[in-house]
Amino acid sequence: MKTLIEKLASSHSLELQEYEFLIKNYNDEAAKSLRKLADKTRREIYGNKIFVRGLIEISNICRNDCFYCGIRKSNKNCQRYRLTPEEIISCSDEGYELGFRTFVLQGGEDNFFTDEILGDIIREIKSRHSDCAVTLSMGERSCESYKFLRDCGADRYLLRHETADKEHYSKLHPSSMSYENRIECLKNLRELGYQTGCGFMVGSPYQTEKNLAQDLKFIETFKPDMCGIGPFIPHKDTPFKDFRAGTAELTCYLLSIIRLIYPPVLLPATTALGTIHPTGRELGILSGANVVMPNLSPVNVRKKYELYDNKICTGEESAQCRDCLNNRMKKIGYEVVTSRGDIKKQ
Ligand code: 5AD
Ligand code: FES
Repeated sequence: MKTLIEKLASSHSLELQEYEFLIKNYNDEAAKSLRKLADKTRREIYGNKIFVRGLIEISNICRNDCFYCGIRKSNKNCQRYRLTPEEIISCSDEGYELGFRTFVLQGGEDNFFTDEILGDIIREIKSRHSDCAVTLSMGERSCESYKFLRDCGADRYLLRHETADKEHYSKLHPSSMSYENRIECLKNLRELGYQTGCGFMVGSPYQTEKNLAQDLKFIETFKPDMCGIGPFIPHKDTPFKDFRAGTAELTCYLLSIIRLIYPPVLLPATTALGTIHPTGRELGILSGANVVMPNLSPVNVRKKYELYDNKICTGEESAQCRDCLNNRMKKIGYEVVTSRGDIKKQ
């Protein structure tokens, strides 16, 4: 293990089988030494600075039916909502006043958000707040659509690849969705000049250690600007309701490894990590993450954007959410900064 960890830290690359070995032989000592190396690596690039993104959950209406997801089309118990363009703009105004300089518009694949409508929203946010970055997290769209939205001013796009194994992908998604299209979307986004984020769930149903090793190999080759990883958490109204949740320990271990694979990557300590463990986001930061994403959605919709059970931050106002995260980061010796927080490629 020690040799592998040293190899990873110095060459930022391992063989697939070596990643698998690292995962299969998880132990506290290895986790500690990876955490230390990851923290050092991140400090060399970003110091003790943590970037913040204001998350606006714009719609929970989704045409897809991913087996793990609480807002899947077949969930009849989900109370659907969609923010109006005016509400979205007003969330970003409020966020701007609170100091946010990056907004993430996230939602299900909702047909209402045509290129025209979404494009107008992006243009409006960018014209009111020209010093802000707009990140989209709206699922799979055509290359033309991605291009149009990029031309409207969108800077970044988050699209988790979910798993880098085709067979595993088909166990998590209905046959109408494909691994190939997912990867095609990611490549298109990158070519269009978006800062592009991929990512996956830790401990998702049917996931093997080899699958996780494949995810790491994918990250090593794709070199995403951002990478969102969080534990899988079952949602009571989905086909995966009886599966076990992923753990904070393994998620943090993987965060450290990803930091070492690609040192400048922007790595969020996710809400899912904060949900599975009371100090999950703090542990994520201490393991090598450098981004937090407080919720800016109107409080009356937060509970409805429930991808998994018991999601945190559903009762707090935006300002409370921001203050809470600022305090949590300060407590562990990190400083939340309000700059756009672009990737610093060396
Ligand atoms: N548990 C954890 N993460 C989930 N996501 C969707 N459903 C769940 C769940 N049950 C993640 C997916 C998706 C992102 C927006 O949220 O990885 O890409
Ligand atoms: Fe919509 Fe999964 S069901 S993203």
